Amino acid sequence: MCGIIGARVEGDATPFLLDGLARLEYRGYDSAGIAVRTRDRALTVSRSTRRIDVLREQVDALDRDGLTGVGIGHTRWATHGAVTEANAHPHLDCGRRIGVVHNGIIENADALRTMLSAQGHVFRSDVDSEVIAHLVERTLALEPDLLVAVQVATAHLEGSWAIVVLDALSGRMVAAAERSPLVVARAAAGDFVASDVGAIAAWADTFVALRDGDAVELADAWVWTSGGMIVPPPIPQPSPFAAAALDLGDHADHMAKEIAEQPEVVAGLLDRRAAAVADGRLWTDLGLPGFHRLAVLGCGTSLNAGAVIASMLRSTGRVPTDLIVASEADRAVLAPGTLILAISQSGETADVLRALDRFDGRFPVLALTNNLHSSLARRADAVLDAHAGPEIGVAATKTFTAQVVVGVLAMLSALVTSGRIERRQAQSLVGEMHRLPGLLEGAYQASATRIPLLVTSVSAATGFLFLGRGGALPFATEGALKLKELSYRWAEAYPAGELKHGPLALVTEGTPVVVVDNGEPRLQANIAEVAARGGFVITIGGDDADIPAVGQEAGRRRLRAARSADRLPGLDAWGPLEAVVPLQMLARELALQLGCDVDKPRNLAKSVTVE
Ligand code: M6R
Repeated sequence: MCGIIGARVEGDATPFLLDGLARLEYRGYDSAGIAVRTRDRALTVSRSTRRIDVLREQVDALDRDGLTGVGIGHTRWATHGAVTEANAHPHLDCGRRIGVVHNGIIENADALRTMLSAQGHVFRSDVDSEVIAHLVERTLALEPDLLVAVQVATAHLEGSWAIVVLDALSGRMVAAAERSPLVVARAAAGDFVASDVGAIAAWADTFVALRDGDAVELADAWVWTSGGMIVPPPIPQPSPFAAAALDLGDHADHMAKEIAEQPEVVAGLLDRRAAAVADGRLWTDLGLPGFHRLAVLGCGTSLNAGAVIASMLRSTGRVPTDLIVASEADRAVLAPGTLILAISQSGETADVLRALDRFDGRFPVLALTNNLHSSLARRADAVLDAHAGPEIGVAATKTFTAQVVVGVLAMLSALVTSGRIERRQAQSLVGEMHRLPGLLEGAYQASATRIPLLVTSVSAATGFLFLGRGGALPFATEGALKLKELSYRWAEAYPAGELKHGPLALVTEGTPVVVVDNGEPRLQANIAEVAARGGFVITIGGDDADIPAVGQEAGRRRLRAARSADRLPGLDAWGPLEAVVPLQMLARELALQLGCDVDKPRNLAKSVTVE
């Protein structure tokens, strides 16, 4: 969603601002802008409702000689107010002295706008963020210190904000945050502020994340305040975004690279975590109380990853689980003894954070996130790091796989600690998980050869069905989500047994029906139901499948013998994780054949910070 960049460098700030904005593009945006201080102490502002490249052309046409090294920039993903240049950030005060970029939502913006208008302030946009510029302007009339003025102004705000305020007169720049991420960094090139470490990865090796209530002046010596008191600046952390992580290497796009990285990510996670599972250390180190029930909270792909983890916990440990769509959490009723597992790759998803507000500290919260500095990580009682590395494609791929693996390992460890499974059983289950990198790699290779041709056969279809049973169902759901977000085709996932209760009406000659075949014997009847109506069945499964990507032949045999999908040991109980690889590749290939941008699907954002 919205992104912030600010720079305080020698020379001209615009190349830094534009490069930073380009690195924020992956978050999703529909307008962008920058404001740079000029030598004669004014603000030069450029905004565009088109791509960053267009903004770059606009900026190139400026007289750059008069510009200084102090500036701010923003990518906006419209929520309140249409996509117009006037609504794009930075926003200015009446005197065009103060420039502001803002992420978050000012909930009392209407009341503030009425109050400020009554005092003579003139608004130029429809957006809530503009009130901040006028509040700072009003405060500066009485209080000349920008840092204090920003703190006074933010005291009037309700909601969430990450802001950077630039004063053209003094050249001072202040950043402040409340329930919205913001980081600052000192690098050889100068000082930077950004909503996302990735935006400044090219210049900064370390960074400091602002905490709620912090306000910082980026000056020769940073002045750091917390809750209004001056405090020493926190120690900088190493940036997780090594510049190399942003290179595509031989891959055509970030999504392709991130799909291919999954075997390596999982191998790394097993190296890091597997040894601490069977003796319970992975769980006990989290310092959480025991639990009788698990409530998984998340959205989109993270919720699907949670469904896999929950499926493992039910089948292996017989622990009851709830799956809570975060945006619907106000209707959830949790039983005493419940642990909340809140899953979010970004850790900034507003629906998840608001859902936790509603549970109001009554249940312990374990966060599973790819961002240890996120709002979610900060407010949870314990945190599991997904350790997937930077994921730039808007569609979640390797973070899904990493979340599943870390979540399963942690829950296995909890099962040992609570005596629900024996240490030896945990050891054997973890042993089986060591097959995962090979299974993922095998699935990747099989898909690379088969998927392009298969997709050519279905690229004209307007809708797709995805089916699975038992442990395979969350993967079918994830496959349908991936396909719709990337290719803009309708796609729905169903438990295969539900087909005959309605969705079968959708199947006509050539309707593509993707089946995640985990060996469940009853799937064959469901496949026959589709084929009898002329549906185009694509099976992802074992050796006899259209895409032979599920390496569970032994499991399949056991499944057929057991005839019960919830009594299986090991990977068969909650897999096939490797099926996600062909599902991701199918969605990507279809999107490419339809001419869609796979790294930046329309209307979507990497970090969804609105409810
Ligand atoms: O950052 P989060 O994991 O909380 O994001 C949740 C969803 O917005 C996200 O998974 C979304 O569904 C992705 N675009 C899926 O690829």
